[in-house]
Amino acid sequence: MAELNHRQGPVGRHPGWPARLGPLRVRAGILEVRKPRLSDGAAWSRIRRRDRRHLETWEPTAPGDWDNNNATFAWPGQWSTLRGLARRGMSLPFVITVDGAFAGQVTVGNIVRGSLCSAWIGYWVGTHVAGRGVATAAAALVVDHCFREGGLHRLEATVRPENTPSVRVLTRLGFREEGLFRRYLDVAGAWRDHLCFAMTTEDVPSGLVSRLVAQGRAEHV
Ligand code: ACO
Repeated sequence: MAELNHRQGPVGRHPGWPARLGPLRVRAGILEVRKPRLSDGAAWSRIRRRDRRHLETWEPTAPGDWDNNNATFAWPGQWSTLRGLARRGMSLPFVITVDGAFAGQVTVGNIVRGSLCSAWIGYWVGTHVAGRGVATAAAALVVDHCFREGGLHRLEATVRPENTPSVRVLTRLGFREEGLFRRYLDVAGAWRDHLCFAMTTEDVPSGLVSRLVAQGRAEHV
């Protein structure tokens, strides 16, 4: 049996990985969060190529061309990288589905354990489900998972101040604004200021999903 260390989880295994979270009913449909699959490539590519204008303004600048970077043939490399990071305990990369179909991603990255037990969280959803509670509920599922099975203590989210929907997602979930990082990240071709939001386990003793359910924004199914 694996030796258990509270701060690091079972030795040789990544706490919280793999996982399937939900289902929850939200305005867009039945939402679930699961690990990425090699077979997600076509749906991932179709949505990301269609939604370039919706995504490019807020995502880290990537070298190369958007259509190539987000072509179906680019997915196996991304999937393999995500899987490798997850297996090494450095990331919890999730796909969001709505009514069983690929709808976006939530990623927990830069997981550091020891005395920090901290990571960042980021997300995107396709325009076909946007504005109907998907990112809020998916992030709530993942935050609860990180603070329970994942053994993390603190999650940070950085967001451009102009990104009103994402700021709204974070404040709705109860993330605390902690400061402004100047010229923090290369986004859409320039170094952009980002607000830093954060949350620790002490902030949400009964979890984020139960709060959303109590607010009538999500329902267990
Ligand atoms: N002005 C003000 N509020 C807005 C606007 C707007 N233009 N558009 C949406 N909102 C509000 C909605 O009313 C809702 O607030 P509510 O809970 O009070 O009703 C909130 O923003 C959106 O909540 P959801 O419906 O849960 O979010 P959604 O599923 O639409 O996803 C997201 C939001 C992820 C930001 C989506 O717009 C997206 O993918 N954008 C492009 C990529 C991106 O910006 N990702 C986030 C980067 S920052 C980070 O990852 C920490």
